[in-house]
Amino acid sequence: MNNGKRRILVTSALPYANGDIHLGHLLEAVQTDIYVRYHRLRGDDVLYVCADDTHGTPIEISALRQGITPEELIDKARKSHVSDYAVYDISFDIYYTTNSEENRHYAEQIYESLRRNGLVTEKEIDQYYCEHDKRFLPDRFIVGTCPRCGAQKQYGDVCEVCGATYEPTDIVDPACGICGQAPQLRSSAHIYVQLSKRQEFLREFINRPGVLQPDMRNFVGTWIEEGLKEWCISRDGPYFGFKIPDTENKFFYVWMDAPIGYLSSTARYCAERGLDVMDYWKKGGPSEVVHFIGKDIVYFHALFWPVMLDSAGFAVPASLRVHGFLNVEGEKMSKSRGTFILAREYAEKVSHPQAAEFLRFYYGSKLSPNSTDLDFSRDEIMTRVNTALINNIGNLHNRSTVFCERYFDGRVPQAAWDASIAALVEAAAADIAAHYESGDFKLVTERIQTLGSVGNKYFQDTKPWESVKKGDMEAAAVVIVTCVNLIKALMVFLKPITPKMCAAFEKQTGAELTWEDYKFSLSGQKISQVDKLALPLEAEHLQGLF
Ligand code: MSP
Ligand code: ZN
Repeated sequence: MNNGKRRILVTSALPYANGDIHLGHLLEAVQTDIYVRYHRLRGDDVLYVCADDTHGTPIEISALRQGITPEELIDKARKSHVSDYAVYDISFDIYYTTNSEENRHYAEQIYESLRRNGLVTEKEIDQYYCEHDKRFLPDRFIVGTCPRCGAQKQYGDVCEVCGATYEPTDIVDPACGICGQAPQLRSSAHIYVQLSKRQEFLREFINRPGVLQPDMRNFVGTWIEEGLKEWCISRDGPYFGFKIPDTENKFFYVWMDAPIGYLSSTARYCAERGLDVMDYWKKGGPSEVVHFIGKDIVYFHALFWPVMLDSAGFAVPASLRVHGFLNVEGEKMSKSRGTFILAREYAEKVSHPQAAEFLRFYYGSKLSPNSTDLDFSRDEIMTRVNTALINNIGNLHNRSTVFCERYFDGRVPQAAWDASIAALVEAAAADIAAHYESGDFKLVTERIQTLGSVGNKYFQDTKPWESVKKGDMEAAAVVIVTCVNLIKALMVFLKPITPKMCAAFEKQTGAELTWEDYKFSLSGQKISQVDKLALPLEAEHLQGLF
């Protein structure tokens, strides 16, 4: 874009409508939001788009069991997802739904173009059908005995005991997961996308710089080289989703229209504002599409999705940012251990007014641009928050602003700030910007803390309280103006991670900070009554969590 500003469309994966938002979803949302807020702070034209993923058999069955319609279920889910994310200041520009007319429109358009490009074929296949429920059964709705290890009550696609993966027709003594009756095999015609025809394109795509992290690129590369299977995009009705044009009773598979939700949500956002959706999705730029996703859904985003987009003439993703899974105290989140923590429960149970913001900071301090799993630990969140936000940055903020209040009439003293500290800030700004861009928020927070320590040491070494005692107000003024400006720079750097804390500082100084403000000197500025930026996080606050 002009003025060196970028236009970026950023997404988090679309959460399923039949589940609550938990700490794992939040990890992804916080990661995305930090990236988005950083670019907004720089003045880039960034749009943050998300939606609920609403289609498919599980959602339909879950509505059936609750005695409501799927539409009622997904409405309820969306409201609760939106309010859960709001607590953590996730700054979506739009949070839409895949069950929209816009999404139907783009699903049909993309399907049409896949056909036109000769990428679609049809095949008859045998599938389990339940006579009682009058429906074909997806793999997850078939239960039986694992053909490899003999474990009972396993799903139709994978054994959770021995890890074997198989076809549902391999499972021993299959039963319908809804009613328990034995299903019958029935044949039905299905629609497939021939990914193998786009092997060359996909090979080239994943090797574009920035599209995937190196570990992921190798991983996805193996899939491509091993030969790409045909992808079935149809399901027989009854199915909660979009009917496929010119078919009797076939619907688009949920994973076909789910990623299209990124596009249709952008379209909705643009339509409401008289903007052009193609400003964000035009092939060849200048806009960049950046998807944040978990490592479990790479296959869909790195293979199916680019083929769909490319065949319909839309921009393919500039970058897939793949994160690992969140564990709790070293283990997979578990309902029985009480560590499957919902976003809403976390905010309720952690009895600290800054609980949500501290979680943002904690996640930020751990996130790197790779897909290794991350751990939530109570001890660690306390240490990280208290070390960085209380003892380091909070302390520097408190001692320097209290000084203004006490000795400089509630103003930042008028003096130029220490040139060597200003130079350190300048160098740090370049590093921090690069770390934000690459998604290395761990290094961002480390760099910020290093600067904070420099500030505290400078305060300690220059002893402004002694200057005051000696009546040397000029010397004290230089120290205080330097420390306040250093704090201001730290607030700029932290703003994408801890927006509320930084808003409190902005209120205190009457300045609204943008990225460039790390360099400008606050001097002579009135400082309103001094509150601490953050209060310590103690064990008792986290006690009721699990
Ligand atoms: N609906 C699909 C995504 C469609 S995108 C076109 C889906 N939904 S999900 O609710 O299961 O997951 C949404 C996102 O949250 C995914 O990126 C997933 O990887 C992420 N996470 C779900 N559990 C997670 C953890 N425990 N830890 C980190 N991320 C996790 O997949
Ligand atoms: Zn049944």
